[in-house]
Amino acid sequence: MPRRALARVDLAALERNCATLARAAAPATLCAVVKANAYGHGAVPAARAALAGGATWLAVATAEEAAALRACGIDGPLLVMGALSPEELDVALAAEADLVAWREGFVAALAGHPRGAGTGVHVKLDTGMGRLGTRDAGEATRVAEAVAAAPGLRLAGAMTHFATADDDPGFAREQLARFLPWAERLRAAHGDLLVHAANSAAALGIPEARLDMVRCGIAVYGMDPFHEDPAAYGLEPVLELTSYVAEVKRCAPGESAGYGRRFVASGPTWLGTVPIGYADGVRRGLTNDCDVLVAGRRVPLVGTVSMDNITVDLGPDPPPRGSEVVLLGQQGEERILAEEWARRLGTINYEIACGIGPRVPRAHHRGGEPLP
Ligand SMILES: Cc1ncc(COP(=O)(O)O)c(C=O)c1O
Repeated sequence: MPRRALARVDLAALERNCATLARAAAPATLCAVVKANAYGHGAVPAARAALAGGATWLAVATAEEAAALRACGIDGPLLVMGALSPEELDVALAAEADLVAWREGFVAALAGHPRGAGTGVHVKLDTGMGRLGTRDAGEATRVAEAVAAAPGLRLAGAMTHFATADDDPGFAREQLARFLPWAERLRAAHGDLLVHAANSAAALGIPEARLDMVRCGIAVYGMDPFHEDPAAYGLEPVLELTSYVAEVKRCAPGESAGYGRRFVASGPTWLGTVPIGYADGVRRGLTNDCDVLVAGRRVPLVGTVSMDNITVDLGPDPPPRGSEVVLLGQQGEERILAEEWARRLGTINYEIACGIGPRVPRAHHRGGEPLP
């Protein structure tokens, strides 16, 4: 009997996606972004597969994420991209991760920290994202000089982050034009520096933004940074979300399914109950507005998505109880992408993947074969 709700994660596909990205970005190197539990895919196995596929760096958002990777024996270059409180700084330094800086006060704290020695620091210029980093190139230069002057610290990189690489490459190019002169001055003054800016959309869509390294997240997981179809870039979806038909019942005209009776049958049909719900990541906004795959065909989700169950209209010829249901992924000739859910929900594929709930077990495999 299939599991109630299962996220099957194909590490061979993730590895191939990294190889595809590394090839596309070369001679820039690939940093695989594995924050947020690798966008819901399982950070440690995803990180290992990314490295096997050709990533040379890993990046996370938080100190705890860095510590979790190190605790599982993942070594090598690792960048914590997020802001760090003093407590989080302790954790990030214990993990021997590279850090991002844009304030002189932070550099002073780092230089004076008992664990600070040897830490690589990437200075962040905010060229238009309006989030982390300083907008003031003079301040960014002073931060870099403070890092270079601190005996224990290493000036490792210069970075920025694009706000619109997916939907307004013109603005991303303006950001790049603000970033490059500053980064090149820094490189001229301080020598060997890793200069990086591109996320997945820029890595694929703005070749001149690849620089020394691309920081790819969404594309590593085989989702399209441009929200359409990952196959257009040779990328394969890594995660499938599955469940099964737990109950099949006849439904007469006028009978309903789910909270609020938001589906009332107009003719005789068979309803299937699938024991997966919004607590698992099947968002309530998909009520009466998505399909699932069962017995190789698309059938509509009908009625309200509840916490633990959905109902589907199986039509006049229902498959047997126990049949596998694919919510995201492929069955026969049919497939449902995270991009399709995102369009229906008015959101992005990132949120679909990150929204798969913690009670859904992740089953890692390689092309259908269990891991050794
Ligand atoms: C600073 C930074 N770089 C790179 C990425 C990766 O972006 P993407 O998943 O679009 O490739 C992120 C993710 O949001 C990020 O915050």
